[in-house]
Amino acid sequence: MCGIVGYIGHRDASSIVLEGLKKLEYRGYDSAGLALYDGQKLNVTKTKGKVATLENKLLTTGNTNSSIGIGHTRWATHGEPNDKNSHPHYSNSGELVIIHNGIIENYDSIRKELIKRGYKFKSDTDTEVLINLIEEIQNKTQLKLGEAVQLALKEIVGAYAIAVFDIKKPNELVVAKLGSPLAVGIGKNEYFIGSDASPFLEFTNRAIYLEDGQVAAIRLNKPIKIWEIDNNKPTPVVVQELKMSLEATEKGGYDHFMLKEIYEQPSAIRDTYRGRLLTDEKIIKMAGIEDNIEKFINADRIIIVACGTSWHAGLVAEYILEDLTRTPVEVEYASEFRYRNPIITSQDVIIAISQSGETADTLAAIKIAKENSAFVFGVCNVVGSTIARETHAGAYTHAGPEIGVASTKAFTTQITVLTLIALKLGLAKKTINNKTFEELITELNQIPEKLEETLNCNKIAMDIAKVYKNSQNCLFLGRGYNFPVALEGALKLKEISYIHAEGYPAAEMKHGPIALIDENMPIIVVAINKGHYEKTVSNIQEIKARKGKVIAVVTKGDVTVKELANHVIEIPETLETLSPLLTTIPLQLFSYHTAVLLNKNVDQPRNLAKSVTVE
Ligand code: G6P
Repeated sequence: MCGIVGYIGHRDASSIVLEGLKKLEYRGYDSAGLALYDGQKLNVTKTKGKVATLENKLLTTGNTNSSIGIGHTRWATHGEPNDKNSHPHYSNSGELVIIHNGIIENYDSIRKELIKRGYKFKSDTDTEVLINLIEEIQNKTQLKLGEAVQLALKEIVGAYAIAVFDIKKPNELVVAKLGSPLAVGIGKNEYFIGSDASPFLEFTNRAIYLEDGQVAAIRLNKPIKIWEIDNNKPTPVVVQELKMSLEATEKGGYDHFMLKEIYEQPSAIRDTYRGRLLTDEKIIKMAGIEDNIEKFINADRIIIVACGTSWHAGLVAEYILEDLTRTPVEVEYASEFRYRNPIITSQDVIIAISQSGETADTLAAIKIAKENSAFVFGVCNVVGSTIARETHAGAYTHAGPEIGVASTKAFTTQITVLTLIALKLGLAKKTINNKTFEELITELNQIPEKLEETLNCNKIAMDIAKVYKNSQNCLFLGRGYNFPVALEGALKLKEISYIHAEGYPAAEMKHGPIALIDENMPIIVVAINKGHYEKTVSNIQEIKARKGKVIAVVTKGDVTVKELANHVIEIPETLETLSPLLTTIPLQLFSYHTAVLLNKNVDQPRNLAKSVTVE
């Protein structure tokens, strides 16, 4: 969480940093700030609120002239979101300035020590402690900035991606990373810094991704120097050529990133299986699975670890994997798994699912699994992300950048990858026969087209949202493969419209949620003509008997549910195993329109962040 941006070079640093912050706002947006040095004076402008507020403030201060600058968009951890706690923070001398993404766990004891030595603090943040610790070390040792930063970080417990500069040496930026992401863009006589590459993609496609435990000195007209914080060891500078395009990170005519990303799902799913699903040859090619097939075949069980929407994708995968491979699957919240002394053996395969590849709890769960000799496989979207690097093998979802904080295309592409894995393993383990395999891959190949057809329900979803937008509560029900879809539907509505919503297995409704039902309660039921259709119809009858309002997602041509429900949304016929890829869409659109009608900030809902790099 928190986005960091930096620039050093021949252009106007203020506009590069400001525009970069706009691209990183998905990482946090409760306050923002930037620091520039005009050759005479350090100008720090910061404010509670979004980057747009910062931009206005900057216009009034006029402090924009600089060729070095750092900026920050915040998701508060230590200290409430207000002007004084916003980053950048500067040292007591006013000469050192820092931006920080992460948490310094032992900041309080260091702060007390520094206070004893006469330091004063303006904010409640852990970051201001770190910049003063660096200053204290510099004063005591006369070391260069990079080395002083390194020594300070050796005293730190926690996670960080930081960028620091010293106005006495305005040709140098020092950056370091542990647990939070940090990319350095390399231009011609200029360098960029970002929590990801989006702030600098329009200027350069050459980047270095710093590894955990590394510090780097970035000096104008000199090669970058990277070394290990623990042992001073210099590390080779590995420059990557980035393939992502700038357009992919922009809205492309849609009102919101979320809507764009909902509509991108047909192409995103095609991209996910492109080159993997070869329907003519009737094979699935996935190097990460093929290279480790014995591990998967011999696994006693598969444990899926994830958070948020990725956890819901894991739950769908549990149904698919157990059905097709007959390997027992457990799905764990990474945050619970990491702290509950889990039983893990070398016979377990762990699948870590993460859109960003940076979620702190998922990373910690991976670490524990590796310490216990399990084989860890990653399913990530962001190429080169920490989870992608920390796992033994993996498969990318190739969904393209997902900017809307509420996850949409990441979810369906994660399910797609996990379905491919299940099919491949099922065939290898002979737990499915060729006929089932072929039937499923043929249908999977048609899902993008059926998804395009499903998207035609946009208008109906909007009309339904108009009727129920002022509801206080909403229930989402589904069975089997579509129970996790109900959970995901409820999460989407909560996240962006702030309406309280709960997802339940349809049959569990009688064990509690039924008490909530009255004539004001909308209940969204996934009632496709597969699985336990009749049972779901009975559940709908139970709702109607209590005057609840039923919004049903049904298979095209359905008659029975249509007669009972207040509203229906039709989706094309498909196999039950693949149905979550379609049933999810109306739920996403319903949440989207509800939030828009309520004037909520769809892409940046309050209190949330796209990438949660703190626990
Ligand atoms: C945050 C995001 C969610 C996401 C979750 C897990 O809470 O707002 O949309 O599902 O993190 O993120 P990951 O990147 O690991 O999938």
